[in-house]
Amino acid sequence: MLSAVERKIEQFVSELNDKEVTSLYAQLPHGKRLRAKLILKIAGSRLSVIKTAAVVEMIHAASLLHDDVIDDAYTRRSKPSLNALYGNKTAIMLGDILYSKGFLELNIISSEIAKMVSNAVVQLSLGELKDVSLSKTFNLNKEIYLEMIYQKTASLMEASAGAAALLAGKDKTVYMTYGRNLGIAFQMIDDILDITADTTTLGKPALHDFEEGKTTLPYIYLYEALGYDDAAKLKALHAKKLSKEEQVWIKSKMEDEKVIEKSYNEAKVLIEEAILLMNERGEEALSSIAMAMIERDF
Ligand code: FPP
Ligand code: MG
Repeated sequence: MLSAVERKIEQFVSELNDKEVTSLYAQLPHGKRLRAKLILKIAGSRLSVIKTAAVVEMIHAASLLHDDVIDDAYTRRSKPSLNALYGNKTAIMLGDILYSKGFLELNIISSEIAKMVSNAVVQLSLGELKDVSLSKTFNLNKEIYLEMIYQKTASLMEASAGAAALLAGKDKTVYMTYGRNLGIAFQMIDDILDITADTTTLGKPALHDFEEGKTTLPYIYLYEALGYDDAAKLKALHAKKLSKEEQVWIKSKMEDEKVIEKSYNEAKVLIEEAILLMNERGEEALSSIAMAMIERDF
């Protein structure tokens, strides 16, 4: 039924009656459509469910368009990003258009669903600002990192699952917990893959996060584990263009201190909790989505 969501997004875009926007949208990679999948698996495929899934994916696409401008990212899913192809102004405006059209459609679905999703967009934006501000510092506070990734990434998954539960008449609290855990684990793994995956698999340069000033969970753990001199060396490399030797040094210290395993295990705990919640309810498809997340390598 994901194809019904694709068609609904295309319909929403074509209703804008603008050839340039239609052509730009057609050039965006679709991605995994993870949020839409969650919504469909929780709530089925009634029109209101398809519309909610379409809107959430439009909002997500808008947020990535803006994020690539903010992050100076020239690739997205192994292809040139829209900002790389057409410049920042076009990317920002396409994001605004997708977001606004999505918001308009959201209000037609129901005020309860609209509230749930728009609250998440506020969180998403607060989280992105926090990410930008934290990147200007050498953040070593794990709680602040976790709060930021909850807002930036997990809030929309939490709201997707919550909105779907509302549409299906299911217990919204349980499904929101599932979505939140999945979202936090997803971002933790995304941050790990920035270190472990090679550039071709990842579709973006490896160790890009640290060069951008982001101290994700493995860096926080590494700093805690290193002795005085090495910790000072790591700090000195923060937010700088790294040479090959410096990249190798960081990766080998991470291996010595087993910080990737430690970070990965933290994501795994959240996923296991999510799986348990869904198994208790006989929601096997949702358990499988969670399981696949911990196994993803791209
Ligand atoms: C990706 O993070 C970014 C997000 C999940 C959220 C971005 C949110 C905004 C830009 C707020 C604006 C929202 C709207 C709807 C206009 P990342 O850079 O860690 O992940 P990446 O590796 O996929 O780039
Ligand atoms: Mg980014």
